[in-house]
Amino acid sequence: MHTHMDTPFMGATTSDDHASGSRAAAVGGTTTYIDYAFQRPGERLPDVLAQWARRAEGRSAIDFSFHLAVTSPYPDLVADMALVVADGITSFKVFMAYKGLAMLDDAQLFSILTESSRLGATLCVHAENGHIIDVLADRMVRAGRTGPLGHLLSRPPETEVEAVNRGIVLANLADAPLYFVHLSTAGATAAVAEARAAGRPISGETCTHYLLLDEELYHTPGFEAAKYVVSPPLRGREHREALWRGLREDALGVVSSDHCPFCMSGQKTLGADDFRRIPNGAPGIEHRVPMLYGHGVRPGRLSLERFVEVVATEPARRFGLYPRKGVIRRGSDADLVVLDPDAASVVLAQTMTQNCDYTPFERWHVPGRVDEVYLRGKLVARRGRFVGRQDGGRFLARRPA
Ligand code: URP
Ligand code: ZN
Ligand code: ZN
Repeated sequence: MHTHMDTPFMGATTSDDHASGSRAAAVGGTTTYIDYAFQRPGERLPDVLAQWARRAEGRSAIDFSFHLAVTSPYPDLVADMALVVADGITSFKVFMAYKGLAMLDDAQLFSILTESSRLGATLCVHAENGHIIDVLADRMVRAGRTGPLGHLLSRPPETEVEAVNRGIVLANLADAPLYFVHLSTAGATAAVAEARAAGRPISGETCTHYLLLDEELYHTPGFEAAKYVVSPPLRGREHREALWRGLREDALGVVSSDHCPFCMSGQKTLGADDFRRIPNGAPGIEHRVPMLYGHGVRPGRLSLERFVEVVATEPARRFGLYPRKGVIRRGSDADLVVLDPDAASVVLAQTMTQNCDYTPFERWHVPGRVDEVYLRGKLVARRGRFVGRQDGGRFLARRPA
């Protein structure tokens, strides 16, 4: 539901392109991904979509689609939004953070919310208060705190909670649905739960790393901690517990990877002297399904049924791919993952398929193993090896959810 392949961001380009990233997905039990086509200033949405399609077509080993991230509104934006919706792109994204790079103001957010709802599209929102983050980050640097720990300290939970609450109020005002990406905090989960209980069309996803990794990792000595510089940052235990509970109780409906790999060597190092310049993101598409099974289902945090819902069924439903994807039944694509509960694996960057020089899950022992993966009935991965066709993936035009 949430990947960034071959994407220029913060001065670097993500290290997986659609070829390597889709192979890694297949090996890890994912048969479809929706990548964020990312508008840059001066670009029109249909052109951005064409760029992303060129990057993926004939190179992706699994099925794919795109969301369109609007970073720079322009006079014909509304007409262009309608054009891409007609091409099967039924979701947009806006950022409440990354000031000067992608952040929109509330007026822009509100207009796009209204228009995407009118078009029957879903708006995905990156909810962090970019203004406050900038003030806090500048303070850190002025105080001489330029290392990766500054990333955590400049993005306290309140910066997410405030943006989520503001997003919900604006969505109510626009009478529009809203989908929050990569939620990391207990407060955001509670706000989404409350809106849903009130019958509002608000939903949210979290990611594998927010469920399993602790903010203590930012205290890793030296520059190693840059491995975990993702936005929003990793959090403490009480937040993780709220996220697991949110998944069980349907406040959160989707677990994505937010796969956004940057190598430590030559990419993360752009921020060696200033954490504000560390490209934000980490690899994860290959380990989403195995980690969620091994560390979600096995310790009893999620039922087997709920696991299937949050990795496959709900993503397909919420983004207009159901029942073609997300369900095993007559007439649906035969995308199947065979998981051996009695086997186990160990995550190692050296042997993974993702094109990155590290993984945040290095040396994690994972109960269960993805043994066979089928895309539309054809075997594409077997025991950690890609055996499909590099050009076997198809673009999926999506319906409104
Ligand atoms: O750190 C992250 N999440 N990088 C990818 C871009 C985004 O905000 O989703
Ligand atoms: Zn984001
Ligand atoms: Zn992302």
